[in-house]
Amino acid sequence: MCGIVGAVAQRDVVDILVEGLRRLEYRGYDSAGVAVVNNGELKRLRRLGKVKELADAVDASPTPGGTGIAHTRWATHGEPSERNAHPHVSNDQLAVVHNGIIENHTALKKELEAAGYRFDSQTDTEVIAHLVHKIRQESDDLLSAVQQAVKKLDGAYGTVIMDTNDSDRLVVARSGSPLVIGLGIGENFIASDQLALLPVTRRFVFLEEGDVAEITRTSVRVFDKDGNPVEREEHESTISYDAGDKGQYRHFMLKEIHEQPHAVTNTLEGRLGKDSVLDETFGNGAAELLKKVKHVQIVACGTSYHSAMVARYWMESLANVSCNVEIASEFRYRKSVVQPNSLLVTISQSGETADTLAALRLAKDLGYLGSLTICNVAGSSLVRESDLAFMTRAGAEIGVASTKAFTTQLVGLAMLVLSLGKHNGLSAEQQADMVQALKSLPAKLEESLSLAERIEELAEEFADKHHSLFLGRGDQYPIAMEGALKLKEISYIHAEAYAAGELKHGPLALIDAQMPIIVVAPNNELLEKLKSNVEEVRARGGILYVFADVEANFESDENMRVIDVPHCHPWLAPILYTLPLQLLSYYVAIIKGTDVDQPRNLAKSVTVE
Ligand code: M6R
Repeated sequence: MCGIVGAVAQRDVVDILVEGLRRLEYRGYDSAGVAVVNNGELKRLRRLGKVKELADAVDASPTPGGTGIAHTRWATHGEPSERNAHPHVSNDQLAVVHNGIIENHTALKKELEAAGYRFDSQTDTEVIAHLVHKIRQESDDLLSAVQQAVKKLDGAYGTVIMDTNDSDRLVVARSGSPLVIGLGIGENFIASDQLALLPVTRRFVFLEEGDVAEITRTSVRVFDKDGNPVEREEHESTISYDAGDKGQYRHFMLKEIHEQPHAVTNTLEGRLGKDSVLDETFGNGAAELLKKVKHVQIVACGTSYHSAMVARYWMESLANVSCNVEIASEFRYRKSVVQPNSLLVTISQSGETADTLAALRLAKDLGYLGSLTICNVAGSSLVRESDLAFMTRAGAEIGVASTKAFTTQLVGLAMLVLSLGKHNGLSAEQQADMVQALKSLPAKLEESLSLAERIEELAEEFADKHHSLFLGRGDQYPIAMEGALKLKEISYIHAEAYAAGELKHGPLALIDAQMPIIVVAPNNELLEKLKSNVEEVRARGGILYVFADVEANFESDENMRVIDVPHCHPWLAPILYTLPLQLLSYYVAIIKGTDVDQPRNLAKSVTVE
């Protein structure tokens, strides 16, 4: 999704801005632009396509200046084009970048056109530029013009405004789209994600909903939604500087798949006692709150929704706590009945997904005991707005396809199940056994990565395929769904997942030699049932790829490839079986020649509805 970078410094800032955009490329975008003020003159460069195109344009046309803003755009209003790329400019004086959607842009545009403003783009963003410009004619300073203008905006925005008549400052406003101020020495920065600014600072101030801030080289002033000056806490970032580098790997996704044993180790660190999960794991006051929980409602999107689905199986079978799971975009628009003593859990890698955040905000008035977020980004909106937060510690995830965020979410959920279970009849022996299983998980994950070579070979067989089916039963059904999502999003092969018992109710009609069927088959109590489903496919000439426990007794033959997955505690098999499916989608995408880390039409952080 769109990315913002801005800077006010004594030195020329264009390289800092372009590097910042490069670090935001993972979010997904279709065009990029930059504007810099130099001696009161505005210079703007925009390009359709990659940041590289913009960087080449900057090289070809030197762009000096100490104050500047830059943007990567992911089209919502108006096609991807240079004309629609940000920054948008009003009267060669004001330049604006914006993330989010201005919902009342049509009405505002009419008013502004009536006042003589001419629109050059099809975007909703351009209304911000002209609106601020119009108010600025009668206003003493840029800050107060922006404060007045945002009162007229409906919708979501993270926006940065630059004025050639007052070029020593940037004014920024946040409502619904995140912004973070980066504090330097004699220079300050703004971005939609701290990752963009790591080369220049580690000190950050996260803006809150409704904040407007004025940033100069030497000062930062923040005002809340009512215009009152406020202090926002400064945070020191712990994200490693090279989190944005691929290292020895060809793609971020492959690097992140291989980082999973380490990421899971980090997620577990300091949170497990000898035989139980430590009370402090979910934050201050969590132990008291979790004791009262009798029902869990989980809300999430995409891959995070799949981890929620696995958790539902675990919650009900192990923690004896009833559990509902819902996609955030549905939950937020329907009336739901809150069960007594319910905990609301949101799950999100980014912590900024618009639908999940809206669901949390909605739930605040519905009578939940409290809210817990399982999230990978410290300081994100979900973390700040939830009562409790469990940080997954996966490290920055750059590939659009979520990998290590998913497995670490599952680890967090497994710990939540243990914490709830201890108040709801999960025996001390079971807890001890499950804690041991969690401790041995990183080594099992490492072992499963050694399947990479075999999976790479098998991926060749998908080169000419257009459709595929993924099958699983019980807590492996969501893993089949996750496998299908991975394959479709990065290889563009149509993939559907079914609970294997549903095959005979329709999808069996699809089976033929052109339809690869991927099966996840750990050695659990549903194995024999699953084997019957596999036979249903074999009898109809389907080609099977079975990811099976080494002890499950499947044998490879002409129509069935068996991939032996290391044996593990059945409880944690959903986590282990995820890795080979990630590898399969990765190698198929390589064969298909797609853009693995930035698949078409997708964004890493979906901050609009
Ligand atoms: O940041 P979130 O976990 O809230 O994002 C939710 C989805 O957009 C995300 O999981 C998406 O489905 C992934 N790209 C899938 O790999």
